[in-house]
Amino acid sequence: MKTTSYLRIAGFLILALVLIELTIETESGWAIEQYPVIWGILAVVLVIAIAIEVSITALENMVFRSLKPDAQERYTKLKAENSEKQFSGIKKWYKKMLNQKPIEKEEEILLDHNYDGIKELDNDLPAWWLYGFYISIIFAFVYMGYYHIFDGETQREEYLAEVAEAKEEIEAYKAANPDLIDASSVELLTEASDLKAGEEIFMTSCMACHRADGGGAIGPNLTDEHWILGGGISNVFQTVSEGGRDGKGMVAWKSELSAQEIAQVASYVISLEGTNPTDPKAPEGEIWEAETE
Ligand code: HEC
Repeated sequence: MKTTSYLRIAGFLILALVLIELTIETESGWAIEQYPVIWGILAVVLVIAIAIEVSITALENMVFRSLKPDAQERYTKLKAENSEKQFSGIKKWYKKMLNQKPIEKEEEILLDHNYDGIKELDNDLPAWWLYGFYISIIFAFVYMGYYHIFDGETQREEYLAEVAEAKEEIEAYKAANPDLIDASSVELLTEASDLKAGEEIFMTSCMACHRADGGGAIGPNLTDEHWILGGGISNVFQTVSEGGRDGKGMVAWKSELSAQEIAQVASYVISLEGTNPTDPKAPEGEIWEAETE
């Protein structure tokens, strides 16, 4: 196969890809990433394109062989002229970019010094190099102006802005999906509104066993620093969510309360520590100390 065949095959593939991307709708990103079957379609297109190119060449050869010798000669000549013309613009431009003297004319630019037989050509700078040099000079001015005169955003600032943006998105996501919280990710809530909501839940669901002031009745005293099942927001969340030890009377609340509500009431319980309820129940369990690393 000839170069033009390869170009045509590549063209077929690109065309197929563009058509596929235009027709298949995706919410984001490229269709080719989301539907691997497209790779299969492209492979089929590739096989068909190769088959077409191969049969065209075979057909051409067959016709060529059936021609008379003088017709064959004319045909070859015509083809040669044609391929000469093909891409002549690009070829010219390529030569211009290289800016090379043809070997036959090298005499003209040979410098007259001669070191042990090593001579030097006084070539002009190739145009591609020179243009690249000019562009880099212009770029340098733009760069200097942007970063050093007009105080453009540096990469560090861009990074920090993106991180801040992502944090906001995470917060928004968390706010929209409150049930994502679990014992490992829960954080102690300190907002008055959350503690108020926690208090309301406590007065509705927990007071019966822990007393309104948390001093303890059937359930243990929640205001001291002793914990049977571990203190700290993570443990308290776990206890309220999953319940206490079997047969003790503290049930799992995760079916009644949302994760957000459990976080609120757990935070409220922790806020009770150090208050002085009347007639408190004696401490149970161990003094809990936050793990320090
Ligand atoms: C039916 C009575 C009852 C109710 C209602 C109840 N608890 Fe309990 N709670 C208990 C008992 C009993 C224990 C001790 C469990 C154990 O020893 O395993 C306990 C343990 C706890 C503990 C662990 C205390 C520690 O020392 O580790 C927390 C925290 C707690 N309850 C919070 C709550 C919250 C919040 C509610 C309301 C959503 C609630 N409880 C409702 C009876 C109750």
